[in-house]
Amino acid sequence: MNVEALRSLVSDDIDAVDGLIRERLASDVALINQLSTYIINSGGKRLRPLLVLLAARACNVQGSQHVNLAAVIEFIHTATLLHDDVVDSSQLRRGNMTANAVWGNEAAILVGDFLYSRAFEMMVDANDMRIMEILSHTTNTIAEGEVLQLLNCHDADTTEARYMDVVCRKTAKLFEAAAQIGAVLGNQPDPIEAALASYGMHLGIAFQLIDDVLDYSASPEDTGKNLGDDLAEGNPTLPLIHAMCQGTPEQASMIRKAIENGGHDNMSAVCATIESTGGIPYTAMAAQREANLAITALEPLPESPYKEALYSLAEFSVNRKY
Ligand code: IPE
Ligand code: IPE
Ligand code: MG
Ligand code: MG
Repeated sequence: MNVEALRSLVSDDIDAVDGLIRERLASDVALINQLSTYIINSGGKRLRPLLVLLAARACNVQGSQHVNLAAVIEFIHTATLLHDDVVDSSQLRRGNMTANAVWGNEAAILVGDFLYSRAFEMMVDANDMRIMEILSHTTNTIAEGEVLQLLNCHDADTTEARYMDVVCRKTAKLFEAAAQIGAVLGNQPDPIEAALASYGMHLGIAFQLIDDVLDYSASPEDTGKNLGDDLAEGNPTLPLIHAMCQGTPEQASMIRKAIENGGHDNMSAVCATIESTGGIPYTAMAAQREANLAITALEPLPESPYKEALYSLAEFSVNRKY
């Protein structure tokens, strides 16, 4: 099943999520409307809300809270992107200039805060302390992940373990929450809830590993983001860590300096070393292992087209080009 086929399984829900997102962006502060509509209209894959919807349907959820919480998850995701692009000094997002590039860092941060807090207003509507607990803990963990990454930047001694810790917190935690919420809404027994949470965590790790591969190897037309943002901020992601471990002493020292200095100047030498040390396939294989773990985690779920779709989502997270 490709991603478009997955979407068609829950197309009515997706339309409802889209309508709710647009409705809840509204503010009487014009700049908030302008900036938030800009980033939402730029698109995005909407994978996290899709995950909420598929998990909820796999758990026979009725009513409309899964639609509300899918929108909540996309708002939280979008808020983290607004903040992340400031921290990473990124200029391109979803094929358009980043909000920070158009309106400046201050506005991007503040509208990110608006989206975060709007998500919490919407969450109250679910009237469920378990959901509040999961999502408040998740946003807190994402913040920790972004701060830990800041500490790793320009630190060439960052280990694979420290890198993986960042990946789990900054990205995989939100995927975990998205999948788990489906089970909570469906009042599922603990093993099913744990299965979906574990699926989301592994899916999210695979997703970020491939994001880090694409930062060195993708076409900006496909991803809508510039190449080399990670190197420019001196972010030691797995392709770099692997190249430093496997390269000759000369290659390792060149990469060390590139991490310490950041910037784009060393991009071609770094890419050549990543290529010759197999940093891309190494990272892609780690992603594939995580996707396999995600698929295995789903075993306790009853068979359904939604479960099949969750399998396909795990495959997409590894094979994607955007
Ligand atoms: C980008 O996520 C941030 C990461 C966690 C890698 P997506 O690639 O899902 O971004 P959009 O929403 O599709 O633009
Ligand atoms: C994901 O990391 C950021 C968040 C979870 C907010 P990246 O910095 O790699 O994401 P992109 O590449 O900018 O989308
Ligand atoms: Mg970034
Ligand atoms: Mg990235």
